[in-house]
Amino acid sequence: MHSTWGCGCYSQRSLKSFKNPYDGGSTPKRALPTTRRVKCVRASSRNGYFPADGIADLIDGKAQSGPDLSVTHFSGLKLPNPFVIGSGPPGTNYQVMKKAFDEGWGAVIAKTVSLDSSKVINVTPRYARMKASDKKEVIGWENIELISDRPLEVMLEEFKRLKQEYPDRILIASIMEEYNKAAWEELIERCEDTGVDAFEINFSCPHGMPERRMGMAMGQDCELLEEVCGWINAKASIPVWAKMTPNITDITAPARTALAAGCEGVAAINTITSVMGINLDTLRPEPSVEGYSTPGGYSSKAVKPIALAKVMSIAQLIGSEYEGAKDLSAIGGVETGRDAAEFILLGANSVQVCTGVMLHGYPLVKQLCGGLQAFMGQHGFSSIEKFRGASLPYFTTHHELVRMQREAVAAKKRARTGLSGDDKWSGDGFVREAESMVAN
Ligand SMILES: Cc1cc2nc3c(=O)[nH]c(=O)nc-3n(C[C@H](O)[C@H](O)[C@H](O)COP(=O)(O)O)c2cc1C
Repeated sequence: MHSTWGCGCYSQRSLKSFKNPYDGGSTPKRALPTTRRVKCVRASSRNGYFPADGIADLIDGKAQSGPDLSVTHFSGLKLPNPFVIGSGPPGTNYQVMKKAFDEGWGAVIAKTVSLDSSKVINVTPRYARMKASDKKEVIGWENIELISDRPLEVMLEEFKRLKQEYPDRILIASIMEEYNKAAWEELIERCEDTGVDAFEINFSCPHGMPERRMGMAMGQDCELLEEVCGWINAKASIPVWAKMTPNITDITAPARTALAAGCEGVAAINTITSVMGINLDTLRPEPSVEGYSTPGGYSSKAVKPIALAKVMSIAQLIGSEYEGAKDLSAIGGVETGRDAAEFILLGANSVQVCTGVMLHGYPLVKQLCGGLQAFMGQHGFSSIEKFRGASLPYFTTHHELVRMQREAVAAKKRARTGLSGDDKWSGDGFVREAESMVAN
């Protein structure tokens, strides 16, 4: 099957040069289209899939036609496409991770593991959905699921087997531990022995583990984070991404701490603390376990605007403090290639998907790649680097917006004061020029 990525049907484009914050001033400026007419794609299915975008033909994750989707992170991690399985149920065992590689996902991040899985006890039900007004489309998803409850030895065996069977594909271990240096060192060593390519550190699980000062409890405390990241980076010999929690006033504070402590990159966001709702018949909160509940983590479409804002802040930090030279893996509500394009336009190198896989299955990656290629074809972008970070310079403060708008109004008024001399009358603009000097 062939990708139908390039509709290429815009007829007008004005180009404006921009300074990409990721260039650090050293590479040539790229062109960003600022106005365009586009006519060919319309959303037509419930998951936002655009039929005109096409389904990419992937072999080992590499698109067989269309714009180049491959990405290379600053840490050196090379992916055939930017779509990564986010840590969670879609990376929970050998069968599902194998399926992800077979379908063409750019990389897989396994479900978070810790040294002692016997401390991890899950409950059921552990998910609750928010539906749109049609009562069918899922727009929000709450979970009170903990990290992997499977024995570490079993997970490690599976990592090893996957790396033997898919040596060229990227497998990332997501890890979490208590505030204990020796425990982190042991976990890192045992994971590295399996051949995994990188670590993602779960500093962000909002439920269950904070009671043991793990996950979000660590990610919200910059002092603790600095110390633990120091231990991790002194031990790890493969790239380390710190996965950030959005449940904090300023996500750049822990991101800055993790990067300063040697992490090669940041992943954001994990889930947002949530209570899905109260059942108005039983008066009990959902998801209800024996009539009781506990706040969980919110994900899926509804969190995308929040994720975009957090990723934007981190991208600005990486742009200004590291000249763009750190990995940024974006997560939160991605279900289409166009969702992914938005995160990449803010500076993300790769884009993770968790709930989207739970809703639409592993073949989704072909739609994601097809959709991203359609977006790229529409704008003439031949590779991801051609547009990565392109929208970031267009964020400013509210104060600046007010100033710019005032200046624009003043300029319009000035333009209405008329021609500066009779020699300025033109044939083509004659009526407009006359109009500009009319008082009423
Ligand atoms: C059921 C479920 C389990 C999850 N488990 C983990 C986990 O073990 N480790 C982790 O870092 N993130 C976990 N996450 C968070 C996701 O990786 C992701 O950060 C979040 O759900 C937002 O992305 P999404 O909207 O694509 O799901 C989990 C999410 C869900 C829905």
